[in-house]
Amino acid sequence: MPKRLKPLTLALDGGTPTRTAPWGEGPSHYAGEIEALRRVLAGPAIPLARSEPIMQFRAAAAKLYGAAHVVTTSSGTTALQVALEAAGVGPGDEVIVPTMTDMGTFCGIFALNAIPVFCDAVAGGLVMDAAKLPPLITRRTRAIVPVHNGGYMADMPAIMRLARKHKIKVVEDCAQAHLAAIGGRTLGTFGDFGCFSTNDTKHVRSGEGGFVLCRSVRDARHMDLYADKCYPRFPGAPKKPAFPPLNVRWNALAAAIAIEQIKMLPAWVAWRRRVGDRLLDIIRDYPLLPHPVPEGAAPSYWWFAFRLDPERCRWSPEKFAEAVRAEGLPCRLGPQPNTVRWNLFRKLHRDPHAFRNYRPGPGLRKGAYDPRRFPETTRACRSVLDIPVNQHVTLDDTEDVRRVFDKVFVSLESTKMIESQAKNAGKS
Ligand SMILES: Cc1ncc(COP(=O)(O)O)c(C=O)c1O
Repeated sequence: MPKRLKPLTLALDGGTPTRTAPWGEGPSHYAGEIEALRRVLAGPAIPLARSEPIMQFRAAAAKLYGAAHVVTTSSGTTALQVALEAAGVGPGDEVIVPTMTDMGTFCGIFALNAIPVFCDAVAGGLVMDAAKLPPLITRRTRAIVPVHNGGYMADMPAIMRLARKHKIKVVEDCAQAHLAAIGGRTLGTFGDFGCFSTNDTKHVRSGEGGFVLCRSVRDARHMDLYADKCYPRFPGAPKKPAFPPLNVRWNALAAAIAIEQIKMLPAWVAWRRRVGDRLLDIIRDYPLLPHPVPEGAAPSYWWFAFRLDPERCRWSPEKFAEAVRAEGLPCRLGPQPNTVRWNLFRKLHRDPHAFRNYRPGPGLRKGAYDPRRFPETTRACRSVLDIPVNQHVTLDDTEDVRRVFDKVFVSLESTKMIESQAKNAGKS
């Protein structure tokens, strides 16, 4: 906690903001990508399916993320659907998911008429709590989908031990966690499948796109057929369609961009970690707590998450975030939504047959989605704060975080003291 600083008027109360410069602004795309696009467009047509840019991206991603096989798809959402189908998920199967995530995690589960079963969050964090999984497992559980929000991670070693014991497949949603790792092992390689998005907000940006990491050639081939209308485009592929597929192929232009992006990804992630580590150092000087991580974790900081320590500071997180934002620093309360409170789940809670495009069968019972069953999620949405991180955030920017926290903590502290003096004066 800063000492001996004179309280300044907060920007929230009409004072001068600590900073006015934009935070983390810079290009998302680079000259090499324009060249790569030019090369693809110089051909007679934009090539389809397993074309050269697609296969080059798959080979480069397999090497970089440490996977035996990579299958590409049109988005992170379709990567998850393709992986879930390959994991054997079908109508009425239960799929355990965290409470806080993006809609893309659910689309495949609904499309396959399977049943999302929520697991509450880890205390003080935004990811599923592995310790809360055992009572959720039933004979209908087909898969667990840990979501590694914001570049942080669920406890994959613990989840994998449990999944192996119960012979349940694990599909990791790494859309927000490219190259995050635990014990030197990249997320997406713990589970049977690791799914990534390359939409234009992610660590790797190609407009739209997705890919799945997997270990077995059998799964990779199955996913390739499922994602590409069962077309026989690789040696040994069945000549005629053998099961009902989708068409969720990736576009060669997006792949050409992404090849260039993943060349830069290790340096970008190293920089995000440098910024994240600096922010970790900074918050130690204040009554703040970092997002919890498993042992050996190396987050890839899509954002930096933290919260006020309730033992040392009783301010409203909402008021704190508001004061920080007014000082010129982007800071959100509850960066990930509590999905159990979405109208979609409220309706299914009342009527499991509420939607004509979703037929989960009798396994989904009335009353399945009661938000009161997820107290850590409710707490997290009211307490976890974030600051966005990317390769354009500088170390000078992180020093501004310190200046903003100094100002906000000292001012709020003095306001509190003035309030309590006024109260005491009123009493005497
Ligand atoms: C956690 C998570 N899962 C899945 C997705 C879906 O990715 P896409 O937008 O590429 O379909 C996203 C994207 O926002 C995401 O953040």
